Amino acid sequence: MHLDILTICYLAASVTFIIGLKMLSSPATARRGNLVAAAGMLIAIIATIFLYKDEDGYSLHNYGWIFGALLIGAIIGVVAAKKVKMTAMPEMVSFFNGMGGACAAIISVIEFDYVFRAAEKMPTPYFADSVATGHFLAIAAGTIIGSISFAGSMVAWGKLNGSFKDVVFKAQHSINLLVFAGVIVLAFVTYFASNQYADYFFIATVILALIYGVLFVLPIGGADMPVVISLLNSFTGVAAACGGFLYNNKAMLTGGILVGAAGTLLTILMCKAMNRSLTNVLIGSFGSKNIQSNSSATTGGGSYKEISISDAAMVMRYANKVMIVPGYGLAVAQAQHTCHELEKLLDEKGVEVLYAIHPVAGRMPGHMNVLLAEADVCYDKLLELEQANDALKSTDVVLVLGANDVVNPAAKKNPASPIYGMPILDVEQAKNVIVNKRSMKPGYAGIDNDLFYQPKTSMLFGDGKKVLQDLINEIKTL
Ligand code: TAP
Repeated sequence: MHLDILTICYLAASVTFIIGLKMLSSPATARRGNLVAAAGMLIAIIATIFLYKDEDGYSLHNYGWIFGALLIGAIIGVVAAKKVKMTAMPEMVSFFNGMGGACAAIISVIEFDYVFRAAEKMPTPYFADSVATGHFLAIAAGTIIGSISFAGSMVAWGKLNGSFKDVVFKAQHSINLLVFAGVIVLAFVTYFASNQYADYFFIATVILALIYGVLFVLPIGGADMPVVISLLNSFTGVAAACGGFLYNNKAMLTGGILVGAAGTLLTILMCKAMNRSLTNVLIGSFGSKNIQSNSSATTGGGSYKEISISDAAMVMRYANKVMIVPGYGLAVAQAQHTCHELEKLLDEKGVEVLYAIHPVAGRMPGHMNVLLAEADVCYDKLLELEQANDALKSTDVVLVLGANDVVNPAAKKNPASPIYGMPILDVEQAKNVIVNKRSMKPGYAGIDNDLFYQPKTSMLFGDGKKVLQDLINEIKTL
């Protein structure tokens, strides 16, 4: 009877995970989706604590430890989530993901310990004789993937908060491959070893997997971290699914598979939106090399024209339709609230204002959506890439706010460009383009932007927040 209620609870939890995930796909329902999935997780946890019984009929009893740990974890989680700044979000996600990876790895390690102790009591000399291959594979996969995810996420966390630097050295990728091959070989050796030594080989497997996790993330550039974090997130999901498989826990299995699949899809989507293969992100060291070369990148694309605040204000005030293209610079300037103020002011004056959101504008998935949501910008005003490109044809003025690569026509026109093939916001289709940034320096990709030299483009130099405030003051007088 107990098991039946438990299975129903797991089923209910799995359904809430799927509904929650679906709701996350729209900014309007994302918050509620998170709560729905969290409620499902709570049901699964409570049901496991009170209803779970193992094959011998034993249930959990050490409630003091369990609820003590739950309370401490919940307090840390709530305080961290409340205090985190929007710009520090990727590093928090990375840290929490690392903790998930560690938990998944520990579950598999504990299961290894259990089967190893049972094997030691067997008359057969080899570990493989007393543990089923499938069971060992799930233990090994959970341990290896969880350990890589934990160690990699910790390095990613350190890089994002500035404690670690990118480390690139000769033959790095060959060494990484060798270490990874070593992890797999050690796992096999563990399985085929005698009962006397299997645990030593297993410990070596864990240590080498942790080392691989560190080595794997070390060379990847800061700005590529969101792709790596998403990939590590999918690793954690797979490792948790292995734990669900080992303990026959359906909620954990479903949750793990969903995280694994969602993380993989997000990784692929991000790579696609940057027009880069995952291999290129992982072994290309694009981020680190290009970011370092930013300071010396050439900006000799020809002559450009500047526009004054008063002229820019005039053009926008008397336009019918203005499209704002937010980019990384808007987040740096923390100008989202001022931007919303400008939008409301133009709206009051009868100008239609919309936002064009590129999928990889900024430095993390959904960066611009989150940034604008923080300033209470209405979701209906945010257009996705394809919708925006359609709307740009009938737009009078495009105001590019701290965006660069995502509006670079080289992605369409220059096959030699590193961003060639990346879908871009085709702002040249509008009648006028005003670009706000502080200088002619390139963006993340470290390449010059031909858009800035086009006859219909005018540069409006200055920090995003100051420029927007000045525009607001000027438009108020018109
Ligand atoms: P970027 O191409 O990086 O350009 C941002 C621009 O903002 C810079 O050119 C910079 O020019 C300007 N800027 C910086 N601070 C500013 C400030 N305070 N006020 C005004 N302007 C400021 O940004 P993007 O167009 O958003 O493109 C994103 C890039 O990141 C893409 O290449 C994408 O592939 C990459 N990326 C994105 C993601 C995700 S998931 N979003 C993940 C990894 C990589 P100045 O220095 O001259 O001001």
